[in-house]
Amino acid sequence: MNNRKKKYFWHPMTDTRASEEETIVIERGDGNFIYDDTGRKLLDGVGGLWCMNVGHNRPEMNRAISEQMEKLSYYQLFTNIAHPKAYDLAEKIIQMTQEEEMAKVFFTSGGSDSVDTALKITRQYWQAVGKPNKKVFLSLEKAYHGMHYGGTSVGGNPIYREFIGPGLQDCVRVSSPHLKKNKWNCQDPEELTKLCIAELVDTIEQVGADNIAAFIAEPIQGAGGIIVPPSSYWPALREVCDNHDILLIADEVVTGFGRSGHLFGSRGWGIKPDAMILAKGLSSGYVPLGAAVFNKRIVEGIESATNGANVIIHGHTYGGHPLGCVAALEALRIVEEENLVMNAREVGAYLLERLKGLEGTYDCISDVRGKGLMIAIDFENTGKYDVEQTSKNVQAVADYAINAGVLLRDELQTIIISPSLTFSKENADQLFDAIHMGFEEWQKQQ
Ligand SMILES: Cc1ncc(COP(=O)(O)O)c(C=O)c1O
Repeated sequence: MNNRKKKYFWHPMTDTRASEEETIVIERGDGNFIYDDTGRKLLDGVGGLWCMNVGHNRPEMNRAISEQMEKLSYYQLFTNIAHPKAYDLAEKIIQMTQEEEMAKVFFTSGGSDSVDTALKITRQYWQAVGKPNKKVFLSLEKAYHGMHYGGTSVGGNPIYREFIGPGLQDCVRVSSPHLKKNKWNCQDPEELTKLCIAELVDTIEQVGADNIAAFIAEPIQGAGGIIVPPSSYWPALREVCDNHDILLIADEVVTGFGRSGHLFGSRGWGIKPDAMILAKGLSSGYVPLGAAVFNKRIVEGIESATNGANVIIHGHTYGGHPLGCVAALEALRIVEEENLVMNAREVGAYLLERLKGLEGTYDCISDVRGKGLMIAIDFENTGKYDVEQTSKNVQAVADYAINAGVLLRDELQTIIISPSLTFSKENADQLFDAIHMGFEEWQKQQ
């Protein structure tokens, strides 16, 4: 075990004083497994950070990246400069998003970059088409849209803004379509959609549709606790956006490229967003890369502007990095050739069903939910334990699972499971056994 973690760097999302905590130092990866610096082999139930879609240390990925490295390790995309792999990848992304009718890609270096790019470009679109008042962003409570100022501002967790405000003005949040936890105590999916949509329409009326640029949301809310909306929610959301001339941005950083059991989360709900935000699975975590993708309406609006809004005054040194582009081209080839979208759907459904069986076995489990290979297990929230104790309970179960050889993510009162899309049923069984054992051990201690 290792205790040097706090000496020279701060960990994201971590108490700066938590120096005595143990850190798991991952040294090596292989397929769906990782190895720490003590040589311990762990099944990676986290998929790095919901990003290692094709698994760790794949020879094809390594080869593609190192071949590119030999040729050109870096070049930029500003103004009239490019490299061939950016063209190849942009074409591939547009081809993969034909169903969503996407028209143009803007490359970035990660999810947060892409979120802020989409926010800026949607505002710019309204300037371009002569509606400069449309500036407000609508989003969901519990939303996670990365940690830049734009994404933090539209994010749905006020804790992230507590010490760094004020953020971006003109951000308004509406209720998240969470079947287990909503202010109406509504457990009927159709009814919940109606309630959420009615609240949204009220909000739009209050703010004024003429002031609203876009609604941004994750097709399945990830970091907020894997909130799977009722299947009627996104089609209804799309309709409201259309009726009020509001652009719809799907943040597909987690759900993009198969994790939800559909190529894109929004495709799983049968809707076409106006803009899509991609990262993580795009390059399968091998090299940092992100993209914001825009449909014809946005592209044509900006390109035909006569007031100067046709110029993109935005860009990142590492946006569309050649190593990221080749990693993405190879990762997307693997996703398609190995049919990993279907694998995520099938193995995810199998694992979810097994885990749902635990709900009746341990009364501390209040909910098991998910779609594809994004699954959450909630500890009870009935007042038996306070928030701090619940979070310790979740951590204790995750620690037992580690001892059983499986790495999971614990987030306050939730265990989050987001492995590589290459996960097999055998891997799912190992993960299930470790969690089962974790709950059993925890219960024994009560
Ligand atoms: C939905 C969503 N959007 C944006 C981001 C930010 O991505 P990054 O951490 O690459 O900046 C994340 C990260 O987890 C995410 O889950």
